[in-house]
Amino acid sequence: MPLPDTMQALVQLHDGYSGTQEGPSIDTLEPYLEAREVPVPQPQADQVVIKVDLAAVNPSDLHFIKGEYGQPRIKDAPAGFEGVGTVVAGDSPLVGQRVSFFATESGTWAEYAMTKSQGLIPCRPDLRAEDAAGQIVNPLTAMAMFDIVRESGAKSFVLNAAGSQLGKLLIGLGRDNGIAPIAVVRRAEQADLLRELGAAEVLVTSDDDMMAKAEPVLKSLKPRILLDAVGDQTTADLFFAMPNRARWVNYGKLSTTPPKLTQMGQLIFQHKVIEGFWLTCWMQETDPAKLGSVIEEVQERFVSGKWKTDVAAIVPLSEAMENLPAATKIPDGKVFIKP
Ligand SMILES: NC(=O)c1ccc[n+]([C@@H]2O[C@H](COP(=O)([O-])OP(=O)(O)OC[C@H]3O[C@@H](n4cnc5c(N)ncnc54)[C@H](OP(=O)(O)O)[C@@H]3O)[C@@H](O)[C@H]2O)c1
Repeated sequence: MPLPDTMQALVQLHDGYSGTQEGPSIDTLEPYLEAREVPVPQPQADQVVIKVDLAAVNPSDLHFIKGEYGQPRIKDAPAGFEGVGTVVAGDSPLVGQRVSFFATESGTWAEYAMTKSQGLIPCRPDLRAEDAAGQIVNPLTAMAMFDIVRESGAKSFVLNAAGSQLGKLLIGLGRDNGIAPIAVVRRAEQADLLRELGAAEVLVTSDDDMMAKAEPVLKSLKPRILLDAVGDQTTADLFFAMPNRARWVNYGKLSTTPPKLTQMGQLIFQHKVIEGFWLTCWMQETDPAKLGSVIEEVQERFVSGKWKTDVAAIVPLSEAMENLPAATKIPDGKVFIKP
């Protein structure tokens, strides 16, 4: 079927970086995006056009549209990194098939998106649309970072923002692999659910005596890896309270107030390490055969019920300018955009 000439999309109003550090929260989209009718992208060699069925809204999308992410914005290009849809045009044997994808050429907050032919992930028919739309960013990051945990040889690990979608995926991996998750959250009401999912311990950063509660837990469970999406003072305090050879793996910037590093000597005398993780680099560096088996496991975990995407809201594309900001404030679930 021929593609239409134009489509609805949420397009970016700015190029490049903003220089701000406000974090991934939005009260309005108007400073960053505009709903517009734009030309449907035309695929060149090694590119495909996908009719978007459902697009994810991740913290990275919000960092990106605000000009605070690790790559520059492109004015007039549709936003949205991740989604699921049907390949409708381009250079691929997957034309006509449902795929999860990361949009490298034209974003997913639109009726049609464009990406490279190589990065497409065919979806099992029994994979729910919400799981398929968020199949790359969080699940692959969880799998990749859990390998770091496994390789540490420790019987436990620490993760913060543990009530996030990614946190819940990591807790499920810990539970199923016998490596005890020590979950750190800022709201006590998340504790019971995280324990049910498999957290061995839950530490609440709003407790006045949180570090006093953390110290015996760290001493008895001896975690080596701290998976950190927050990057605040509590994270630094936890890291410095962890055993020798602890690794602080920062993968998110949810806090807007950076920590003070109070005990740098531990990097020298206790062999502790501070490092970063970015899925984009991991995907470029990972052997395609390994990537294929990770993706198979991801789909199996969702279909078998070991993992679940909690859905806060599905916002129609036509209402996103008005309703998306409020939807992103609903706790404990992901937001999606439906073209
Ligand atoms: N580096 C990478 O390659 C990579 C890949 C994927 C994801 N990520 C990062 O992973 C993190 C989680 O993503 P997600 O999609 O799973 O998130 P999500 O489901 O949208 O949840 C966001 C979570 O962040 C918590 N949060 C927000 N601000 C916070 C703060 N200042 N201090 C502590 N907690 C805070 C929220 O806690 P409340 O419920 O209390 O509001 C909520 O649990 C994000 O930072 C994202 O950028 C990084």
